[in-house]
Amino acid sequence: MDGSIGIPVVRRDATAKATGAATYAADHGHVGVAYAALTLSTIARGRITRVDATAAEAVPGVQLVLTHRSMNRDLGSETFVMKGGHMQSSFMPLTSDEVHYAGQIVGLVVADTTEAAEQAARALDLDYAIQPAFAAMGDPNRTAKPDGEPEVVIGDADAAVARAPVRVDQEYTTPAQHHHPIELYATTASWNDGKLLVESPSQWVIGQRAALATIFGIPAEDVQVVSPYVGGAFGSKATLLPHTVLVAAAAQRLGRPIKLVVPRDAMFTVGSFRPATRNRIALGAERDGTITAMIHEAVGQSAEIDHIAFPGTNVTARMYDIANIRTAESTIATDVNTPGFQRAPAEAASFFAFESAVDELAVALGMDPIELRIKNEPKVDPVKGLPWSSRSLVRCYRRGAELFGWDRRTPGIGSMRTKDGVLIGYGCASATYPSAMAPAAAQVALTGDGLLRVRTAAHDVGTGAYTVLGQVAADVLGVANEMVQVELGNSELPSGPMSGGSVTTGSAGSAVHMAAMALRDKLLQVATAEGGPFAGHDQATLRLTSGNIVSADGTAHSLADVLKASPAGSLEASAEWKPPLMDAGQAQQGLRGGHAMQGPITATHAIYSFGAQFAEVHVDPLLRTMRVARMVGAFACGRVINPRTARSNLVGGMIWGAGFALLEETQVDRPRARFANQDLAGYHIATSADIGEVTAEIVDETDTVVNAIGAKAVGEIGIVGMPAAIANAVYHATGIRVRKTPIRVENLLPSGS
Ligand code: MOS
Repeated sequence: MDGSIGIPVVRRDATAKATGAATYAADHGHVGVAYAALTLSTIARGRITRVDATAAEAVPGVQLVLTHRSMNRDLGSETFVMKGGHMQSSFMPLTSDEVHYAGQIVGLVVADTTEAAEQAARALDLDYAIQPAFAAMGDPNRTAKPDGEPEVVIGDADAAVARAPVRVDQEYTTPAQHHHPIELYATTASWNDGKLLVESPSQWVIGQRAALATIFGIPAEDVQVVSPYVGGAFGSKATLLPHTVLVAAAAQRLGRPIKLVVPRDAMFTVGSFRPATRNRIALGAERDGTITAMIHEAVGQSAEIDHIAFPGTNVTARMYDIANIRTAESTIATDVNTPGFQRAPAEAASFFAFESAVDELAVALGMDPIELRIKNEPKVDPVKGLPWSSRSLVRCYRRGAELFGWDRRTPGIGSMRTKDGVLIGYGCASATYPSAMAPAAAQVALTGDGLLRVRTAAHDVGTGAYTVLGQVAADVLGVANEMVQVELGNSELPSGPMSGGSVTTGSAGSAVHMAAMALRDKLLQVATAEGGPFAGHDQATLRLTSGNIVSADGTAHSLADVLKASPAGSLEASAEWKPPLMDAGQAQQGLRGGHAMQGPITATHAIYSFGAQFAEVHVDPLLRTMRVARMVGAFACGRVINPRTARSNLVGGMIWGAGFALLEETQVDRPRARFANQDLAGYHIATSADIGEVTAEIVDETDTVVNAIGAKAVGEIGIVGMPAAIANAVYHATGIRVRKTPIRVENLLPSGS
């Protein structure tokens, strides 16, 4: 079977992962490696007033105790990702006596064994001068400040809501959440002849290489970041995390390779997280269901040390054809580690709010919630008036409704029950995710033994990129999937973008496609040149299929045969792809690890994937326990390279959406201004037992605008509509509208009981 586009090829790395042959950052051994452990701040804000490392240094096997006193070097020359740099935070621990949040790194201990390092990290004795701190967004001592993002103002939304005959005006909240990839953060750093090698799970090896080069004052060529396998990331491994820098600094000082594996409890504070949100949504409509006005005022949790905002109002404002729109965004600074990207950073929370409000409007109108959405489907982007590159939301609703059996739904609250009397609720919600694009480079080679090698510094963060990018090349060259080898996740490879924002397939895939097309040209030239097997043939009459070049009369020669006619016995080609409207200078900067993203709004189009999501929930009428019995999603994401891996992303997102709706919450211990449930026993994520049947279907769609291969964003959209679909289903079952996540048993007690 050809490894062609559209075929559900099994993951190329499945066997390696299942057998343990795939090595993750923490698996790498080095001769003479030493082990690091972290000491974390026990206070949330203040200063370190005294450091006593005597006991820590006395632990047998301890090699180095680093605190702000002993670090004695500047590590702060690289900036925060939202300010154009690559760091998770603008604050670098161990470079000052300041404490900005609970769980901040205040010491790094290196020893001959992990056990000694951990013992010494516990023995490191620090005194603090404590200042008051606030880690929850709802604290009365903190006020919201505008986030500086452009607001959408079209018409007069406030007046239009006020005079609308049917209105909804409500507030919805979501808590802080953490990513919790199963693979912990881990870094092994080693120096050799002034060159730095960092093995660390990464969504952006090129960006992290650039940052490490800046921090250590060495050329980028002297830094290598290696991350062939990533055990889940979801945004947590996109930026350079401070502990990686500290480990590299310690390795340089000791002249030994150093390995750090960050324990689960520290994962809550040494990286980023999804900040809490509060959303006011007001909608006004005519009685026939024409939505005339929307207001979305979003408040997001930010950090005192870094301003960061993911309010998502620029996405909700684009969902429906509404004549009067007003959005406003602000943030509340809290004393926490800097929040960051987490799967659908802006959309997941804002769509819980917005799509819950749309459901409330449907209830107020006495209208079917799908028909309400279809009635207000916009022909163009409501904000800029630009055409969509493609938008198949209505087809997603029609197909999703069919798969789900929406026609079985009776609209009355609590009107559907199982044979055992359990309440059934059906809910739906829209999903969207922007298709941004980033420049990428790739190299493709055919070797004498018939192998097709694809190389690009993109990343497979569990998404299937190894498989999908191989298929893009195999499709062009007519090579069987088994004959394809793909190399990713290494900064020595041709540049690839941050595997974030669901850009990898579209961007790195476009570069691979271009390189494969260039290789195809070279191959056909060799085949038709004098001495080649198709000497004298017109190249346009030749086809590449099943590892052969075939002429119009059916004569076939294997690629291996054709390669024998090339001087080297092999051929390779490279290409750099840039988003269609990006200027060359910005693209070059992006290829060197700078920020270079185009879209989802370009000069000519609005480019988004869309989906319709459905949930069936079961609620026990007495105990009020609830279960997501079924989830269905229908998604249109342009051309889907591999339906199996795409579906796996969509299903994963939907499962996470169920966790978002019912389970996930990082709780704040307010008096101590710290996260309270810092382990997976206290921080609940959905398990198999929480999830019923999940169906994700891909709706056919052609997008000729988005990029060279027509592929829009897949990775993040699956989570986006699910929390609202579940909350809407809970309302249908119980008549209780829960305007916050997670929805818990105690939120479903009938009023008055
Ligand atoms: Mo994703 S949150 O853009 O890694």
